[in-house]
Amino acid sequence: MPKVTIVDDPANGEGKSVEVENGTTVIRAAAQAGVEVPHFCWHPGLSVAGNCRMCLVEIEKMPKLAIACATQVSDGMVVHVNSPKAVEARKAVLEFILINHPLDCPICDEAGECNLQDYTYSHGPGHSAFEEAKNKKPKRVPLGPNVVYDAERCILCSRCIRFMDEIAKEPTLTFVERGDRVFIDTFPGKGLTNPYSMNVIDLCPVGALTNREYRFKARVWETSSTEGICTGCARGCDINIWVRNNEILRLTPRHNPEVNYYWICDEGRLNSFRHVNSKERLNSPMIRKDGVLQEVGWDEALAHAADALKPFAKDEVAVLGSAYSSVEDNYVLQKFARQVLGTANIDFLRHETEGNQDGFLIRADKTPNAYGAREAGVVSTKGVDANRIFDLISSGKIKALYVMDDDVVTTKEREELLAKLDVLIVNHWVRTRTTELADVVFPSATFAEKFGTYVNFLGRVQLSRPAVSTQEQERVPGRFNMSRLDKFGSPFDKWNKGPRRNVRSSWEIVSAIGSLLGGKMRYQSAQKVFDEVAQSIPSFKGLSYARIGDRGALLKKSKEEALVR
Ligand code: SF4
Ligand code: FES
Repeated sequence: MPKVTIVDDPANGEGKSVEVENGTTVIRAAAQAGVEVPHFCWHPGLSVAGNCRMCLVEIEKMPKLAIACATQVSDGMVVHVNSPKAVEARKAVLEFILINHPLDCPICDEAGECNLQDYTYSHGPGHSAFEEAKNKKPKRVPLGPNVVYDAERCILCSRCIRFMDEIAKEPTLTFVERGDRVFIDTFPGKGLTNPYSMNVIDLCPVGALTNREYRFKARVWETSSTEGICTGCARGCDINIWVRNNEILRLTPRHNPEVNYYWICDEGRLNSFRHVNSKERLNSPMIRKDGVLQEVGWDEALAHAADALKPFAKDEVAVLGSAYSSVEDNYVLQKFARQVLGTANIDFLRHETEGNQDGFLIRADKTPNAYGAREAGVVSTKGVDANRIFDLISSGKIKALYVMDDDVVTTKEREELLAKLDVLIVNHWVRTRTTELADVVFPSATFAEKFGTYVNFLGRVQLSRPAVSTQEQERVPGRFNMSRLDKFGSPFDKWNKGPRRNVRSSWEIVSAIGSLLGGKMRYQSAQKVFDEVAQSIPSFKGLSYARIGDRGALLKKSKEEALVR
């Protein structure tokens, strides 16, 4: 393994030695030594283009400066990242790039998270010798339904082109024109319509490519960013959730080489949080009085639900968990079903969209946790699956149904079927056709409002953190101690003034009813529920929130299972 010395501070000539794999580039070796080499065109998930020259470094025994992104290390190499020559070259590169780049940071969406802005501040010359008028180029060009291009801001790094060629595997973008008139365009007759098109927005190191929906909505410093999991399909891509005033404004991908690399699909990015911001959100428990659902306090609704379930024999009740809910929610629900209600009538609905799957990220199963729901025990031990439960409702044998976080009324027939029940209790985030039929409705927290784990189709369990605050957070602040919100401290306090919804995590709602019915199921937090899951379910053995961390962890038996799923 070649040994390289990376010298960061010219005043301390010794630098740091690292051993790296054969063929490693200088930029990666420097990163391994904890030193960032400024760069625009290089991206760890793409091929090397070597066109921006921002990564110039001085390497001993080499006559000229070299670009760190395309130069491979050799044994004994000594690299000076910030030598006077390298610093001077970097200043010149920035001055060159800025010749035609508009100084429109005050109105540019990228401001605050722009590589060019940051590098100009930390490495730039502080002045420009260029006094002529800047080039005029196309502005506000829709490249596709979701991406808008501003050619004047483009620094021609080609990251977007390479993404479409190498990752999306649909060559769509190219350089057109020559010299200082060059800009990016789609091939004739093509649009940027690929299901992964919006990743070019995150890749663009400046504000040349913007999100059509998000542009001009917020400044990045007004928002908080929290690590979450996309709940749009069974891949469970790692994301950051960007929130202002308790409203999710956008999702961006978070790097996880085990799940989604650096990318997410447009569908997940745009639509997997709509229900969190929805105007149809439920904001209070409700019970049916005189045939009409009326808002009541939590205690009254919980007591009402417990009383409503009491008269039924174990075979007369059924529960439906949810592949949208977390492992914690499903675990508590199945415990409630088995230990408190004593029923084996338990299952959850599948939501697979045939054909809507590709060989990259998108999965046909449009739920984040079907695997986790099964592992948590939401499966009947006596063969009564969801279809059988509906049959038994139809024949009048099942008289009471608890539905957690799912809309089971998908057809008129289903609606008529549920109307036959004596008691229907529903937890959900929004008003649905199922909540409209219910006798008791509990407003539950979405994935973005609670801690929770989700198991993706490969059997990787991942932790999602609360990004949007709710009244649950005020009521039990200790429950949210691990939240990123704490780390974001002041920006969050300053900008998150939005109303807090009156919702609770489903595991808490179910365990409260269970306790009222005499079950031993009081939990302080989702973390405590998970600890019990790890103790009682063999595939979760040895796991904890800390072990799951940022990357997730494979369930015990998942490796073999993943091959057949
Ligand atoms: Fe690079 Fe952005 Fe220009 Fe594409 S649009 S070449 S990513 S600067
Ligand atoms: Fe090395 Fe652009 S990052 S040349």
